[in-house]
Amino acid sequence: MILSIESSCDDSSIAITKIETLELIYHKKISQEIDHSVYGGVVPELAARLHAEALPKILEECKTYFKELKAVAVTNAPGLSVTLQEGVMMAKALAISLGIPIIAVNHLKGHIYSCFIEKATQFPMTVLLVSGGHTQIIEANSLDDMKIIGQTSDDSFGESFDKVAKMLHLGYPGGPIVQKYGQNGNDTAYDFPIPLRQSPNIEFSFSGLKNAVRVAILEEEKNGTLSDEIKSNICASFEKTAVAHIMMKLKKYFKLYPPKRFAIVGGASANIRLRGECESLCKTYDCEMILAPLQYCSDNAAMIGRIAIEQYCKNEFTLYSNLDIQTRIH
Ligand code: KG4
Ligand code: ZN
Repeated sequence: MILSIESSCDDSSIAITKIETLELIYHKKISQEIDHSVYGGVVPELAARLHAEALPKILEECKTYFKELKAVAVTNAPGLSVTLQEGVMMAKALAISLGIPIIAVNHLKGHIYSCFIEKATQFPMTVLLVSGGHTQIIEANSLDDMKIIGQTSDDSFGESFDKVAKMLHLGYPGGPIVQKYGQNGNDTAYDFPIPLRQSPNIEFSFSGLKNAVRVAILEEEKNGTLSDEIKSNICASFEKTAVAHIMMKLKKYFKLYPPKRFAIVGGASANIRLRGECESLCKTYDCEMILAPLQYCSDNAAMIGRIAIEQYCKNEFTLYSNLDIQTRIH
């Protein structure tokens, strides 16, 4: 069995996965969303302190499996340095005390393997990774052969939802809240410009759209506090534009390189409008669409355990003395 740890942002999670059968024996996640909600975003120092409380509590429940562990896997990049450090320190302590090797896992690759929890891998596939930190189109051919085709030059898709929610004082994380408000709104109430519409490149940008939303909010605030109707209309119009931007670029990609298999992964892959529009696109191109179960879209240790099995089979171990965190994007 492999014990895996995830602490790259605001979710403390540990999983235990059977190497031969891929079976997920144990999985627990303690989310810090409520703690960060008042700040409208993740406060790194607070997140680290909460990981230091939560991870040992979860680990306590795994003690009965310790004898059977062949390795400990941990996310070491990318993420918030102070929170990654919490998981990495726990992994080092476990590896030293149990005499087992460490597997260092890239969080973004982990998200791709969220599609294969308790399942065989399916490669090649094109992946849309949409999370709080990243927006990328990736051609994934195997564990070690993944190529970024396009990515955002500023904010990520999920982050833009977080920022809109913050500007409207709706709480954190913004994705589910903005989606919910938007469901009651009129998505044609505001005509926000679709980013990079004229650009032929497969790339993303959300800062201009965020700014357009900010200007609209300031304009509305001149007439007093915003009503729920106005908030809903802003959320609906923003979401429509953000998804239209992604779809415009995806359509360009599909036209140039029609894939046989397409997956959406990352926390923001829970977005209903995005899922629906990707489904239609895949139908048009007779392309198989792969989605991770909803509980594995956001950060979790099950996906880290799943990719760790592949790394274990390839002897991709890291000496605990060499294991460091990397906070760069990729
Ligand atoms: O993958 P994840 O759990 O953490 C990172 O690795 O960043 O993704 C979290 C992000 C947050 O920005 C959150 O607002 C966004 O995913 N998100 C959504 C939705 N649910 C979560 N964004 C849009 N629509 C959603 N339904
Ligand atoms: Zn993530």
